[in-house]
Amino acid sequence: MLNGKKIVLGVTGGIAAYKCVDLASRLRKQGAEVHVILTRGAQNFVTETAMREISGNPVVTSMWGEIHNYDVEHIALANLADVVLIAPATANVLAKAAAGIADDMLTTTVLATRAPIFFAPAMNSNMYENPVTQQNITTLQQRGWQLIEPANGHLACGTSGIGRMPEPAELVEVLENYFAGADDSVESADGNTMDNTMDNTTDNTMQGLKILVTAAGTREPIDPVRYIGNRSSGKMGYAIAEAAASLGAEVTLVSGPSALQPPAGVEFFGVESAREMRQLVQERFPACDIVIKAAAVADYRVKNVSDQKIKKNDAELTLVLEKNPDILKELGEMKKPHQTLVGFAAETQNLLQYAKGKLEKKNLDMIVANDVSKPQAGFNVDTNLIKLLKRDGSIEELPLMSKKELAYIILDRVMKLRM
Ligand code: CTP
Repeated sequence: MLNGKKIVLGVTGGIAAYKCVDLASRLRKQGAEVHVILTRGAQNFVTETAMREISGNPVVTSMWGEIHNYDVEHIALANLADVVLIAPATANVLAKAAAGIADDMLTTTVLATRAPIFFAPAMNSNMYENPVTQQNITTLQQRGWQLIEPANGHLACGTSGIGRMPEPAELVEVLENYFAGADDSVESADGNTMDNTMDNTTDNTMQGLKILVTAAGTREPIDPVRYIGNRSSGKMGYAIAEAAASLGAEVTLVSGPSALQPPAGVEFFGVESAREMRQLVQERFPACDIVIKAAAVADYRVKNVSDQKIKKNDAELTLVLEKNPDILKELGEMKKPHQTLVGFAAETQNLLQYAKGKLEKKNLDMIVANDVSKPQAGFNVDTNLIKLLKRDGSIEELPLMSKKELAYIILDRVMKLRM
């Protein structure tokens, strides 16, 4: 996927900069042409010589040095890039980029390029979670920049938390997925060529449409301190809400507990249990044009929730569960012809058979089926591997992609269903 692709790799001054030697080497091994820009800060962690040897190209370290090759310096780098990847991206470079500051070679290139920009923030978790940084990230995403989310783990500052740059292999994979998704057509597993372009998403403005998205898992209380939950992170639903807002829709996001920040420009309701979610969703449903139920709703709740913390007196404890309402099925029964209803089917076996059954039983227009037993699909990862099943019986199989990219594709297909 990367063969012949021109990648401008911007390295900024974080401890994770050392991983860029490996990153550049892997990109080159995949056939990419790598052009490295090192900021002044980055040069404290990695040398120009190392990056030149690994990338096989001159490394740009300053705007003011002697120009060795006009084809790859200054604005030329911005023009030649098929993609710009900033890894690691410090809080500082994000702030500068969000504000449009161009005071060094990297930020100048970023401002001048028309190529897609991916950024992999890496920093101390307090810096990452600081609302200023989060706001800058949101601003960049709204401008179409692609966030490669940092991982949780041990940080260089001695603490642990969110802020680790993903491993080079994962960054390479993100770019591979990007180029796979950006290709006009992709061969599906069964050999059919399918339309997988995302270009048309920009034409499909959602202006004037009301969309309700549910996300994350519900929690069903056992007693005042315990609950039954599931592994859903909310990433897919939040990505859909964010993408719909960026396409101009009026978005309501109803979410179970999640570590994610609600996207900017979205009406947000946080809920705990399935019944709370049901109430909010049902109240809003009549005014909605589109509902996408990405939430992992608990099918059962505890029958007799204890008022007090349950003590561990006995060797065994039996919880009696009773069925929760199926929110989506109820919406399917209430649905008006102008409304588009989309569900998700997270399965570990018989994916297509179960998903098709849910599409029919719940009166849906489309169902997004994913096999959550696959490591890069489903819960708590940034990528997903999905199949879209429509009412007309068609099945569209999509390659592995980031949830953010898939969000646009799902919305594009919803808009096509409504034509
Ligand atoms: N769903 C819902 N209310 C429920 C259960 C599920 O609205 N009580 C919705 C989910 O948001 C999802 C779709 O129904 O969009 C399918 O959910 P899933 O958990 O995959 O299927 P279930 O219908 O619960 O069936 P099963 O658990 O037997 O697979």
